[in-house]
Amino acid sequence: MKILFVGDVMGQSGRSVISSYLNEIKKEYKTDFCILNAENASGYAGLVKSSYDELIAAGADFITTGNHIWAKKDIFDFIEKYDNILRPANYPSPCPGKGYNVVRIGKIRLGIINLSGTVFMENLDNPFLAFDKIYEIIKPCCDIIFVDFHAEATSEKIAFSYYASGRADAVVGTHTHVQTADERIINLQTAAITDVGMTGPYEGVIGIDRSIIIKSFKTKRPVKFELAQGKRQFNGVCVTFDDNNVCVKIERIYKIFD
Ligand SMILES: [Fe+2]
Ligand SMILES: [Fe+2]
Repeated sequence: MKILFVGDVMGQSGRSVISSYLNEIKKEYKTDFCILNAENASGYAGLVKSSYDELIAAGADFITTGNHIWAKKDIFDFIEKYDNILRPANYPSPCPGKGYNVVRIGKIRLGIINLSGTVFMENLDNPFLAFDKIYEIIKPCCDIIFVDFHAEATSEKIAFSYYASGRADAVVGTHTHVQTADERIINLQTAAITDVGMTGPYEGVIGIDRSIIIKSFKTKRPVKFELAQGKRQFNGVCVTFDDNNVCVKIERIYKIFD
């Protein structure tokens, strides 16, 4: 069993990479299921219905998100209608949408959990304790548990991957848009990477036009963000599980396109 996870898909640039290359990459890695973080898929933040439809039509099976989930109002109209989209589970209750779900891939029951970190981010419920609660609920009905831990601080993400090891079978970090080279299998039982990276503009500053961001740092005045143009990138990981549903391999994927 192989799961492809795609890092934050950003704007039209990222969606065009998915439309053009996702199926090719799925074939190359012979994956069985594709999870894609889409918190930036519309504009540069948020997810509207037409972008959701485009990503699903292009071959994504499941969508996770993060702190930008509420950036476009459209999300409130459809997040409750679909079982294959999550927002971070540790948003305060009541909050629309789900933070975890269990899906079937043939005989395998895959539990997917989306959490947000709280270091240098919004002050949400404690993600470590939220995971404990969700794990107790879904463990009896899951063969594999896969976590998208959407967080800024590398320390929080690494600490969480050790904390969840032995319970989660894979913990992948998202949010920084920069892929880290620390993919590994912890304690022979949990695939982990601090950040998967992003899918979208290659030559911007984490996806935004670089001249705008440099101006903002230089002048310390508000600027209007625009998606960077030009070359594009695909960032993801492929996690392989053996017949006993134990992870045996995590491979980083980093591709650049014109
Ligand atoms: Fe993001
Ligand atoms: Fe984010």
